[in-house]
Order: sequence, then C-alpha cells, then structure tokens
Amino acid sequence: MKSRLVALEEGKGPSPITIIKTNQARVLPLIILQYLMTFLGVGIVFSILSMFMIRYLGVQNVVPVAQSVVHPCYGDQSSLESWIRPPSTMMHTMNDTELFWRASFVPRIEEYPFERTPKIAFMFLTRGPLPMAPLWERFFKGNEGFYSIYIHSLPNYQANFSPSSVFYRRQIPSQVAEWGKMSMCDAERRLLANGLLDISNEWFVLLSEACIPLHNFSTIYRYMSRSQYSFMGSVDERGPYGRGRYNANMAPEINITEWRKGSQWFEINRKLATDVVDDKIFYPKFEKYCRPACYVDEHYFPTMLSIQSPRLLANRSLTWVDWSRGGAHPATFGKADIKEQLFKRFFDGKTCTYNNENSSVCYLFARKFAPSALEPLLENASKVFGF
Ligand SMILES: *[C@@H]1O[C@H](CO)[C@@H](O)[C@H](O)[C@H]1NC(C)=O
Ligand SMILES: *[C@@H]1O[C@H](CO)[C@@H](O)[C@H](O)[C@H]1NC(C)=O
Ligand SMILES: *[C@@H]1O[C@H](CO)[C@@H](O)[C@H](O)[C@H]1NC(C)=O
Ligand SMILES: *[C@@H]1O[C@H](CO)[C@@H](O)[C@H](O)[C@H]1NC(C)=O
Ligand SMILES: *[C@@H]1O[C@H](CO)[C@@H](O)[C@H](O)[C@H]1NC(C)=O
Ligand SMILES: *[C@@H]1O[C@H](CO)[C@@H](O)[C@H](O)[C@H]1NC(C)=O
Repeated sequence: MKSRLVALEEGKGPSPITIIKTNQARVLPLIILQYLMTFLGVGIVFSILSMFMIRYLGVQNVVPVAQSVVHPCYGDQSSLESWIRPPSTMMHTMNDTELFWRASFVPRIEEYPFERTPKIAFMFLTRGPLPMAPLWERFFKGNEGFYSIYIHSLPNYQANFSPSSVFYRRQIPSQVAEWGKMSMCDAERRLLANGLLDISNEWFVLLSEACIPLHNFSTIYRYMSRSQYSFMGSVDERGPYGRGRYNANMAPEINITEWRKGSQWFEINRKLATDVVDDKIFYPKFEKYCRPACYVDEHYFPTMLSIQSPRLLANRSLTWVDWSRGGAHPATFGKADIKEQLFKRFFDGKTCTYNNENSSVCYLFARKFAPSALEPLLENASKVFGF
C-alpha cells in the first residue's frame, strides 16, 4: 500500500490529485488504528459478556463457542481455591454417567487443609413450583454459609425466583421422575451427586415441595451435626408390603433377611451419599426386580445402606408424616388444619433415641402441606417453630 502511494507521489509533479494523496497518506494509519481499536473493543466486550453469561446465566444458556472461549477465565487450577470453591452454576452439561463419576471423588487424606464449615445440602425433589418457599426463605435467613440448596423438578418446568431468593438458580439438570419407579431413585441420586460437587456439603436431606421445617435453622443444624447416625428410615417389615415385595432373584446380593423398608425422605452424611452415588452392586438388582407393586424408592436406599453400613443408620426418618387416615397416600394438610392440635402432634407424646439416648425431639420436618396452608403457617411460625 505504501509503495503504491510513493509511486503516485513520484508522479507528475504537484496537482490537485497529489494533494489529496498526501492527505490520504497521513489519514490511513489513523484508520487502521481505529479498526484495530474497534476489533479490540469488540473482543473485550465479548469476553466480559460471555464471562457474565457463564457466571450468572448458567452454562446451558450459552452457546458452545462461548464456553470454549471463556473456559480459561475461571478455572485457575493452580490454587487450592479452585478445588474447594463450589461450582459457580448448577446448570452443568454433564450427563448422569459423567456427573456420578465426578461426584464419586473422595479425598484420601481426611484432614482438610483449609477452614471448612460443613454445610447441610437441602435437596428439593419437586414437580414444579415450591409453594412453601416463603416459609423456607424465612427459615434460611441469616444462616448463609451453613447450607446449600438443590432443586430437581420436571425438566420442562421453568422456575422464576427473583435474584434475592435463596432458590434463585438452584435448579439442577433434571429428568422425569415417576413415583415408585427407578427414575425416582435416579432423581435422588442426581440430587446427591450435584450436592457432592460442593466439598463443604456434609449432610444431605431430601425434601419435597410439601415439606416444612419444624424448628429454626440453628436447632436443625445442631441436631444433624451432632448426630452419630444418619436418618434413613429402615425396618424389616413382615407381611405383603414389606418382605412380600422381596424377589428371590435379588440373592445373593440381597437376602430376604436383609430386605428393608423405609420412608423416602432421608438425611444422610457425605460418606453414605457417596456410597449411594457410586453403587453398582445393588442398583441393577433393584432396577430389574423391584417394580410396582414393589415401590423401589421405599426399599433401595434403606436395604443397600443397611447391608453396607448398618452401624451408621438411626433407622428412622426425620420427617413427620400422617399415615393415620389409612390408604396409599399420607394425609395432606390445608388451611383449615393449621391449628394448635396439629402442632401438638408434631412435638408431643413421642420419644425416640438420639445418639443412644431418649429424646423428645424426633422430627425436624413435616409433610404434606397444601399451598393453602402457607398463610397460617407463616403467621404462626415464629411462635411455634421459632423462626
Ligand atoms: C454420557 O456420555 C458419555 C460420553 O458421551 C456416554 O458414554 C454415556 O453413555 C452417557 N451417559 C448417559 C447416561 O447418557
Ligand atoms: C432456635 O431455637 C432454639 C430452641 O427453640 C432457641 O434456643 C434458639 O435461641 C433459637 N435460635 C435462634 C437463632 O433463633
Ligand atoms: C440368608 O440369611 C439366612 C439367615 O441369616 C442364612 O441362613 C442364609 O444362608 C442367607 N442366604 C444367603 C443366600 O446369603
Ligand atoms: C439400625 O439397624 C441396623 C440393622 O439393620 C442395626 O445394626 C443398627 O444398630 C441400627 N441402628 C441403631 C441406631 O439402632
Ligand atoms: C428410654 O426410655 C425407655 C422407656 O421408654 C427406658 O426403658 C430406657 O431405659 C430409656 N433409656 C435411657 C438411655 O434413658
Ligand atoms: C395460627 O394463625 C391463625 C391465623 O392464620 C390463628 O387464627 C391461629 O390462632 C394461630 N394458631 C396458633 C396455634 O397460634
């Protein structure tokens, strides 16, 4: 380009054309510079934008190109920090095989070389909305750093919590889960696996959209953190709904005397959560031989953990539920049921063992509550539940 300009200038002496050309010679580097600056600017804006998208919008909302561009920005693998920081987004792109493999990592040196505050992972297994969310918001308030929240809902459900909500962007990649089928246990394992990705999660509690907390956060945290046992309901029940659901094809891995039944709503520690996620022994047996009328979500985890780690189990659930009306489903409580006498049933007249001692605090959560129960529960929460 320069040589062309020089050639033109060496031409036929001064003329109007030459004047224009000399002007061009001065202006052109400036234009090139402007172009370069524009490119640089666009580049910087794009990088900042994609960094923002990765962090705040979740990986799945970003096109694959942006992912590969941005990857080096947040993965500083040279510091310990990168191994202990929880994932910045719940919406990863791992499938179950990849997720479970990643979640099964366990450090062999038991002492953590950093200040670790053990957290409770609250795992909500839901269909769609969380009608009790305002009650939970109040429960969690002021306890940041001591809990994590994970929500598994129907895959096509779009949650719209505000950015100030504790439930904001806590949805994990989900699949359809059907009651009584293996897809339900898959969903529970998916919740556990996502929770295991955060090294600080120590206790994992499964809840539904119809569950409420019965105590304030500090009471629940103390109860779980000081327990020597995990709270998995597990009984050897005779009769058609217990041992009657056992299939002899499950032997030799599972003997009829080892067959257990328990409520789906459990609380387990990090070790047991890892055991559930990496199980390859019992899963195929249950998948193949425990189908309705064998309801796998009532048997798989209680049986498996009772065989592997019986001494770590309290064999009872922390979630209060009312089966007294009979039938296949427990009672649901609506607005009219939220009365003194119901509160009495949560707290009074029952004793259980806690760390091998008698205790009157047996339940930390209760179910099932209809959306109409929210308002009276909120009104009574500070007096009855202490939050
Ligand atoms: C996940 O992806 C890997 C690699 O593509 C594949 O081998 C595996 O079967 C997938 N797992 C599931 C559950 O789809
Ligand atoms: C939680 O409840 C317990 C027992 O009811 C009470 O002693 C404690 O002060 C409460 N904690 C907070 C932070 O409100
Ligand atoms: C099942 O348990 C019973 C009683 O503990 C025992 O006699 C039997 O050998 C066991 N069967 C298998 C297949 O392990
Ligand atoms: C729970 O049941 C198992 C047998 O399945 C037993 O070994 C264990 O001691 C029980 N746990 C408690 C706390 O009693
Ligand atoms: C717990 O209570 C039962 C009666 O309900 C009693 O027999 C037992 O000795 C008590 N255990 C302890 C450790 O206090
Ligand atoms: C709970 O709140 C309702 C108002 O929604 C009130 O009428 C009722 O007395 C309260 N119950 C208790 C036990 O405080």
